[in-house]
Amino acid sequence: MNRLVIKNLRKKFNNVWALESLNLELNQGEIFVLLGPNGAGKTTTLKLIAGLLRPTEGEITIEGIDLSEDPIKAKSFIGYVPDEPFIYNKLTGREFINFVAGIYNVRNPDYETRLAELMDILDIGPWIDELSESYSHGMKQRVIMCQLLMHNPDLVLIDEPLVGLDPKTSKTVREIFVKLKDEGKTLFISTHTLSFAREIATKIGIINRGELKFIGDMEELSRISGKKDIEDIYLKLSDDNGIVQR
Ligand SMILES: Nc1ncnc2c1ncn2[C@@H]1O[C@H](COP(=O)(O)OP(=O)(O)O)[C@@H](O)[C@H]1O
Ligand SMILES: [Mg+2]
Repeated sequence: MNRLVIKNLRKKFNNVWALESLNLELNQGEIFVLLGPNGAGKTTTLKLIAGLLRPTEGEITIEGIDLSEDPIKAKSFIGYVPDEPFIYNKLTGREFINFVAGIYNVRNPDYETRLAELMDILDIGPWIDELSESYSHGMKQRVIMCQLLMHNPDLVLIDEPLVGLDPKTSKTVREIFVKLKDEGKTLFISTHTLSFAREIATKIGIINRGELKFIGDMEELSRISGKKDIEDIYLKLSDDNGIVQR
């Protein structure tokens, strides 16, 4: 069974189609990276899968559960990190992590050990007990990443994960994603960072104006675009005129 199945997914805001007929299937152990310019429809796609927006048309199935029929069950498989991570200002990082773990019913016997481990990996220990209102964007991203890993979702949705992260943290995050993939999780990541797609994606999608113009791995992308460098491939395939046969 596929972990995520998307059929003819469409979303219209007022009179504009933000997403046109998206079809996609992802299995265990895949990292799908969605690339596309600003306004292409990446955030809309992720919000639809996370159940935060209702589709105008189409179906989303997670672990065989239809998101519109049993949203609570379907969403229990998901971890979602929005592009503007939200943390209650008056909670400390640790309180926030505990709060979210409570919502997801995390009953891990080694809760404290796992938290200590993640605090170390993500380097959040020194300030985790300070109020979130004092955190920078990158610090918030790291707390969000910690919360995500605590509840251990099978399908991880991340919108622009590297924005505002310093190179060291960005490398750590990349390593964490690969580790999750190796553990059999499925990751759906939207980004502008092309090198990130090249390094960790098992599948790449290129979207523009709400339309998925291409889906495939690096090798197929190179072949179809006739280019080797990810930047050249991206620019060619995301070009408005360059509609590519799927
Ligand atoms: N809530 C909304 N209401 C109206 N239009 C929206 C809304 N959210 C997104 N859009 C429009 O949908 C299109 C896709 O946006 P978005 O999914 O945020 O793109 P991306 O994340 O790729 O930058 C854009 O034209 C955007 O203006
Ligand atoms: Mg976006």
